[in-house]
Amino acid sequence: MSLPRILVTEPIPTTVITYLEEFGNVTIGKKGEFNSEEHLIKELHKYDALLCMLSTPVSETVLKSASNLKVIANFAVGYNNIDTKAANKLNIKVANTPDVLTEACGDFAMALLMATTRSFFEAESYLRQGKFKGWEPLGFLGMELRGKTLGILGMGRIGQAFAKRAKAFGMNIIYYNRSEVSREIQEILDCKLVGNLEELARQSDVLSLNCPLTPDTYHIIDSNIFSIVPKHSILINISRGPVVDEEALAEALHSKEIAGAGLDVFENEPTVHPRLLNAPNCTMLPHIASATFETREAIGMLAAKAIKQVLSGTPDSKITNLVTS
Ligand code: DGY
Repeated sequence: MSLPRILVTEPIPTTVITYLEEFGNVTIGKKGEFNSEEHLIKELHKYDALLCMLSTPVSETVLKSASNLKVIANFAVGYNNIDTKAANKLNIKVANTPDVLTEACGDFAMALLMATTRSFFEAESYLRQGKFKGWEPLGFLGMELRGKTLGILGMGRIGQAFAKRAKAFGMNIIYYNRSEVSREIQEILDCKLVGNLEELARQSDVLSLNCPLTPDTYHIIDSNIFSIVPKHSILINISRGPVVDEEALAEALHSKEIAGAGLDVFENEPTVHPRLLNAPNCTMLPHIASATFETREAIGMLAAKAIKQVLSGTPDSKITNLVTS
């Protein structure tokens, strides 16, 4: 019997490929090769399983062309790149990678906040340019975190991981979410749910976006929110770029409506809004929140296991990371 055909859209850790090769015939795409619907439509009908990236546009049209596809495993926890409703209708299972990247992302959010409030990159470039001529009492002053309020939009696993770290730095935690977090988490974080996004924005010295991208969260952070947040506040976004109206963010930074932003994600990745590139106090990184050796391997293994489970007929109820919507 021939092995199922598995398309992995980009190179991923070799341990994961070795695992997939135990039960499948694996094809690995080149970096960016499968980032267009046209190419997916041309190729995907040859495969039983797809292990894809958050940059792979798995639209309804793509899915309809994939006549042999049984399972899609996204190499990410967010799955806004996949039309899950269409997949569901076509009986194609979809899996994501919850839990395994939580700690890496929590660490990263904290680092991004520190880098932004303390101007790490600006100060480093000042030094590299030979401008450091001695200790300066008024050089690169930034906001201290102790006693400040971190407002989290989307208090899921990653929001909580960030909040735990921020708590250890002496920050107060508030959040806005569809539902209240468990009593245990409330006690650990001593955090408070606020009534709406505007209230969260008003009270936050640091506003962190940790919600998924959905039609409801698209551009949820817009010029109205920037007119509400305190002028000394910092925006941190490690969720998805389109949660923020980037044009409005650029304007808010240039007009000093907010004091800074730490961004790991962008509205039209890999393009960065030109006015962000020269905005003051804007730390920008190329979507690397989960980029640790350990985490990227764990993401790959979780995705690969879901593929194996679906292809071998494991009942859905026994697969922990299937997306149902
Ligand atoms: C995810 O998994 O959704 C992240 O954006 C990857 O870093």
